Amino acid sequence: MENRIPLIAGNWKMFKTCPEAVETAGQLARLVADVTDRDVMIAPPFTGLALVAETLKGSQVSLGAQNLFWETEGAYTGEISPAMLASAGCTYVIIGHSERRQYFGETDETMNKKISAAIKSDLTPVLCIGESEKERESKETFSVLDKQVTKGLKGFSSADMETLVIAYEPIWAIGTGKTATREQAQEVHLFLRSLIEKKFEKGLAKSIRILYGGSVKPDNITELMAMPDIDGALVGGASLDAETFSKIVHY
Ligand code: PGA
Repeated sequence: MENRIPLIAGNWKMFKTCPEAVETAGQLARLVADVTDRDVMIAPPFTGLALVAETLKGSQVSLGAQNLFWETEGAYTGEISPAMLASAGCTYVIIGHSERRQYFGETDETMNKKISAAIKSDLTPVLCIGESEKERESKETFSVLDKQVTKGLKGFSSADMETLVIAYEPIWAIGTGKTATREQAQEVHLFLRSLIEKKFEKGLAKSIRILYGGSVKPDNITELMAMPDIDGALVGGASLDAETFSKIVHY
């Protein structure tokens, strides 16, 4: 895994009220206080961010948001700017999750604008990409991912992407209990690293962190993390319970 620092990230999606978020974040901060050789991040809903930031102060756990809007401010009812996220204590932001693409019409073009806005505000973007079951069955996995990476990262230099994280999340594995086998995930991660090398620079391909996401649980994380090109995980359902997520963090 070269010397990439593993990142275990929890995407809480639309779960947890403010008190619930604070409680889980507090438990997690205590449970992972011994961890020094990997990064840990949680992404609560927007409403919990500022409170969770307080709870996480001085802990090993970083804070991320699940989305942002690319404008700095303006008449955009219901949207949240990068500076607002940074001021609430976020250092990461998840961009282009398949649920955003599926239910909210997000595209590779909107991802691109969001990544650019995140980088400008010093937020680390976690770009989610992945193929559907139908695309995998018709052997389009690599072409779909190539398109998502090419369009999503269009116009950025290697320097722009120094902190960017890619999360490979096969749509058929999200929330379904069907994890990609570690061989399937490794094959795709290696493909993505070569793609980054081809489109950007070898140095970036070596340093960029590529996470796997899709039904990651305490009982499959160890075998996934044993693969050379898997640098961490983006965890949905199993990140909602602090003890379960802590087991994943301690793989
Ligand atoms: P899951 O979700 O772990 O519940 O499958 C992963 C994700 O959507 O990021």
